[in-house]
Amino acid sequence: MTTRTAPAPAIEVHGLQKSYQKLHVLKGVDFEVARGSIFALLGSNGAGKTTVVKILSTLLRQDDGTARVGGFDVRTQAEKVRESISLTGQFAAVDEILTGRENLVLVARLRHLENPGAVADDLLRRFSLTEAGGRKVGTYSGGMRRRLDIAMSLVGSPQIIFLDEPTTGLDPQARIEVWQTVRELAASGTTVLLTTQYLDEAEQLAHRIAILHGGRIIVNDTLEELKRMLPPATVEYVEKQPTLEEVFLALVGDTESHDDAEPAHTSEER
Ligand SMILES: Nc1ncnc2c1ncn2[C@@H]1O[C@H](COP(=O)(O)OP(=O)(O)OP(=O)(O)O)[C@@H](O)[C@H]1O
Ligand SMILES: [Mg+2]
Repeated sequence: MTTRTAPAPAIEVHGLQKSYQKLHVLKGVDFEVARGSIFALLGSNGAGKTTVVKILSTLLRQDDGTARVGGFDVRTQAEKVRESISLTGQFAAVDEILTGRENLVLVARLRHLENPGAVADDLLRRFSLTEAGGRKVGTYSGGMRRRLDIAMSLVGSPQIIFLDEPTTGLDPQARIEVWQTVRELAASGTTVLLTTQYLDEAEQLAHRIAILHGGRIIVNDTLEELKRMLPPATVEYVEKQPTLEEVFLALVGDTESHDDAEPAHTSEER
């Protein structure tokens, strides 16, 4: 095509539904993520964030609705989707017995890249892990482990990366380092979909923020738009802008009780 039209979104989700037995988790989820942007999916525990990420990364099948990732259908072109993405799951997937460098080399080999050692060294440098690269991951701090985990997901330069709660459990310094990494990724053209329960994380990073609640996306906007949804800031002595946390709580309210029902686990995944 020679005409310049708006590029297709990196991720397109329409009417996505998913139940685990009787538990109807996703009831019609719709959203799009623009190429090269950072999209934050917010939601309480059990809202279905990981379920969305698993469907988009082809680890789980939806019951209904469609999802395209990198232009490919997750159901019918799963192989193509997998070539376009990488996933950093909610729980770190690094091998503790290996060194940081060995973990990276392993992934580079699995992805059939030429010169896995050079790929590993480059990523170690980008993630400030050069010094630690020769040490067993078992000796790493939580932040170093998480950085290595993200570095591993970048082997082979995927166009789209999914980060499921990338900074949960990290100290403030390590969180800032991960944020910086995510910003650099987006600046280099990678599309990032991250889930988080930290509202300040979404506030810091995301171009768009969507809130998943009651099985649907109830809000999908920029931070500025979200802040405008509350009544204007009240002026007392100082002008008080609503925080994203206030916007979130006002929107989510307590219409639905916190979902901590413990349904039986199915064997359809893992
Ligand atoms: N394999 C499964 N079998 C049965 N129920 C499941 C399964 N996976 C998730 N669920 C349930 O589906 C709901 C959504 O889970 P999901 O992990 O997608 O939520 P989440 O938004 O990622 O939560 P968190 O913030 O705790 O990570 C929860 O009630 C969860 O218990
Ligand atoms: Mg989750």
